[in-house]
Amino acid sequence: METAQRYNGLVQRVREEFGESIVALRRDIHREPELGFDTRKTAEKVLDALDGLPLEVQTGVAENGVVATLEGSGNGPTVGLRADMDALPIREQTNLPFASEVEGRMHACGHDGHTSMLAGAARALSGMRDQLQGDVRFFFQPAEEGGGGGRVMVEEGAADGVDSIFALHLWPGLPFGVAATRPGPIMAASDAFEMKVRGTGGHGAFPHETADAVVMAAQIITALQTLVSREADPVEPAVVSVGEISAGSAFNIIPGEVRLGGTVRTLDADLRQRMPERLEELARGVANGMRGDVELDYDFSYPVAANDPEAARRALAVAGSLFGGDHARELPNPSMGGEDFAFFLEKLPGAFVWLGVGEDVPRLHTSAFAFDEEILPRGAALLTALALETLSSR
Ligand code: NI
Repeated sequence: METAQRYNGLVQRVREEFGESIVALRRDIHREPELGFDTRKTAEKVLDALDGLPLEVQTGVAENGVVATLEGSGNGPTVGLRADMDALPIREQTNLPFASEVEGRMHACGHDGHTSMLAGAARALSGMRDQLQGDVRFFFQPAEEGGGGGRVMVEEGAADGVDSIFALHLWPGLPFGVAATRPGPIMAASDAFEMKVRGTGGHGAFPHETADAVVMAAQIITALQTLVSREADPVEPAVVSVGEISAGSAFNIIPGEVRLGGTVRTLDADLRQRMPERLEELARGVANGMRGDVELDYDFSYPVAANDPEAARRALAVAGSLFGGDHARELPNPSMGGEDFAFFLEKLPGAFVWLGVGEDVPRLHTSAFAFDEEILPRGAALLTALALETLSSR
């Protein structure tokens, strides 16, 4: 393909021309993390970064999201590029000079990087309008970490008229500078449940006068694992994890209720739909057998993020031409992590691409997560090239 030549030197150009502003924006966002839909200040920083560019900017999308459209010179399709803007309720422990200044909040999933890379791509593409046979729409999205900002953006019509879409996610565990994706599912459906296990409380010394909800909950947690090991097809991935247990007020009192919280991850739509009913039946069976009962709240959160095969292949080809063939990797398996870019991919063909920040880097959603900022101009160049490739290869 001529692809290789076209993107020759693009990483270097983006780094030289926009690298400083990309890093500055990233640090600015990193210092002041915001949660969920409440990304007002982050959106303001994005607007400052886009100031002066030939974009049609829409604010207040999905509450505090920003959507900006760059009109190209032809009547070609519209390609979307999306970044998430929200942080996590984690206390940062990185000792970075630009570490979070907000107690108990941290950009521990790299969304500060995603946002600044997208702003960098907007700058780069703004200078290449004459090469664009169609439009580029930039989505700066709040509430990826729960809340489903992506769903709200799609529901509000922000993606109407967009023909395909791409998003990057910085990825520890993947070698630095390697872009990876795959045709088909890349991230799992991520659903949540809360279960109340109810018995009858009483004195710890007289269990026979109680229906012990703690023992019921213990049995239920173990039994739930059989949904994966004995009910789901062994070659069909599924995860049931109980991450929260709360009950009790004293060591010698049997509580009347135990609250469990958990997550269910699936790739198959039928299995996903079956899970709440089976979870409830199984838990109720165990509880009833021990003279108790359960109440289940089940929340279908994020669907499977399924890449369009052609878009995924295009992303790998573009990454290969930008970074070298050994830096574009087709993933053998999806991740069981969830991602609300899935809502865009339900509506549009597109691809979610991981961008490696190194194998020995602290993992996402940990208080130590940090990455080499040299990845940022590379990511901005990749987003730029994905738009160029989509809008000029016809
Ligand atoms: Ni994330």
